[in-house]
Amino acid sequence: MSDLRAAQWSLKSLLRSASAALVFALILRCGSAQQPLRTLIVGVDHRHTESLNGDWHYLVEQPPARELYDDKGNVRDGGYAQNSHPNIKSGPHNSEYDFSTAPTLKVPGDWNTQDSTLFRFEGVVWYERDVPMQPKPGTRTFLHVGAANYRSFVWVNGKRICQHEGGFTPFDCEMTGAAHAGLNAVVIAVDSTRHKDDIPSVSYDWFNYGGITRDVSLVTVPTYFIDDYDVHLQHGPTFSPRDARTLTGYIHVQDAPAGTSVTLRIPEAGVEKTLTTNADGRAEFTVNATNLSLWSPASPKLYRVVLTSGTDEVTDDIGFRDVRVDGTKILLNGKAVFLQGANVHAEAPVRGGRVTTDEDVKNLFSMLQQINANFARLCHYPHDERMERYADKTGIMLWSEIPLWQRISFDKSDVYDKAVIMLHEMIRRDRNKASVILWSVSNETPNNPVRTKFLTDLANEARHTDPTRLITSALIGPRVSEDQVRQDDQLMQALDVVGQNEYIGWYEGQPEDADRKEWTFSVNKPLIFSEFGAEAKYGNHGGDHDRWTEEQEANVLEHQFKMMQKIPQVRGVTPWVLMDFRSTTRNIPKLQDGYNRKGLFSERMEKKKAADVVRKAYTEHSIGKAE
Ligand code: GCU
Repeated sequence: MSDLRAAQWSLKSLLRSASAALVFALILRCGSAQQPLRTLIVGVDHRHTESLNGDWHYLVEQPPARELYDDKGNVRDGGYAQNSHPNIKSGPHNSEYDFSTAPTLKVPGDWNTQDSTLFRFEGVVWYERDVPMQPKPGTRTFLHVGAANYRSFVWVNGKRICQHEGGFTPFDCEMTGAAHAGLNAVVIAVDSTRHKDDIPSVSYDWFNYGGITRDVSLVTVPTYFIDDYDVHLQHGPTFSPRDARTLTGYIHVQDAPAGTSVTLRIPEAGVEKTLTTNADGRAEFTVNATNLSLWSPASPKLYRVVLTSGTDEVTDDIGFRDVRVDGTKILLNGKAVFLQGANVHAEAPVRGGRVTTDEDVKNLFSMLQQINANFARLCHYPHDERMERYADKTGIMLWSEIPLWQRISFDKSDVYDKAVIMLHEMIRRDRNKASVILWSVSNETPNNPVRTKFLTDLANEARHTDPTRLITSALIGPRVSEDQVRQDDQLMQALDVVGQNEYIGWYEGQPEDADRKEWTFSVNKPLIFSEFGAEAKYGNHGGDHDRWTEEQEANVLEHQFKMMQKIPQVRGVTPWVLMDFRSTTRNIPKLQDGYNRKGLFSERMEKKKAADVVRKAYTEHSIGKAE
């Protein structure tokens, strides 16, 4: 941990996160030692893998889903997990299901937009695919799942190899012990049912797309393999040109004995270093690089990084940059920046459903480019890794968040442990993504001591896990008296950057009320207005105050920007939201029809007037100053 912020990390939160980190490590071993390893292999998208994307047979289970859960709610291994086939013509009556003749769903993809009978289905869907394998001696094979919403249970040839909770982060399950030469039945049960103690909890303002929503592949590696690494620019107490040529980090070789050799090569930066692992399989390094070109929106330079250990090799394309705060300034490579962007949900433009393809990603970024954005808040959950890869290449800075949305069970320690696991998974997957500059621990949570303790510990856990990035959260509920708006939420003490959501002109008051608002904050930290806006149905026109019209939405944003121009610590803005998106709570016919209509663009990428207001302000850099 580089600077004095480490000191803030109190003993109590040390104990609290130690227990959670322990849980993270234990879960990776799924309880008892002989259980298959469940891990998160970093950089899978840069490894040679065998894709299992495509058609998977599926069966739907209505609640109470007795093929998955017994009447005490415990997971069963005896039901559909066994992939048995019914005796149709002859023989004793046995099972009454058959994956082999069942219809198929595309993976990756949510089930809601593929099968109209499942459009509003929240429950259990079973996936099955026969996977041909020829296991080689001295190798191990993992099933990589980019994400599956919400709970997933995986069996190979009837043997449960892992389970995972959380709809937006990847997991890798070892198949080695359960797989054999020939066809292997891979069965994955995905349960999108909501529960109070889940993250997010039972109510949230986006569509609960269920299913295996991101890439699935087979990852075959040697017995000892590189499962995690961190290669970043040295992050000293202050940013100095000297740091700008020193790279540091670690490489972790899973199950490697101490003294195992690892090589780090970055040819273009003149780096070639051989290291050895310690008892935990970890090899740390600090190396000098020659004439590094630092990553920034103006020059999103990525370096090919090659890591080898024994016969295992991982390559990655990594940008090196420094991000920090200095008073109310956000500094990128020592220079003050102003973050201008939009909130982005992981919904595919035009075709709808969860983002799964390069084209979906390109479409989302094309709308960001149309408003001249240099930043995006990926809300409210970690997005498909394609988003970070695209941002790395195109120089868009990102805010990444775990789905602690409004009310969750802050009073429950197992929910805290769950939050830490999601946080670790988010950071582990994207630690080497230069575009990601902010980790957010929550959105719009109720300001009370139990929540503040929970999120303060979580923010410190994030800072401890990754001291090279900024920690933030999107707040609500400033104290308002007349036109005086005071934000003094104690959680700000634990944040590097404050996110502030407000909807003056839509949920509160009239658009022009914003002009009179005097905002003050009890902390002298950089501020991002992380949500503001109004709803408008594309093509619905009227006067500046006619709600639901493009003119009113544009008018609200005009006044918002005027309000923000007066607040010196504003260092970023992300209107809510880039594109209209599905939400089951938005049901005004002919205006919403199941969509949140606060987009600058419609769900079909049709540009609303508000997008022009934003583009103009971003092109003129008229909202705020970087310093
Ligand atoms: C909230 C919330 C969003 C929601 C938005 C809205 O602030 O964070 O998830 O969609 O407001 O009400 O439109």
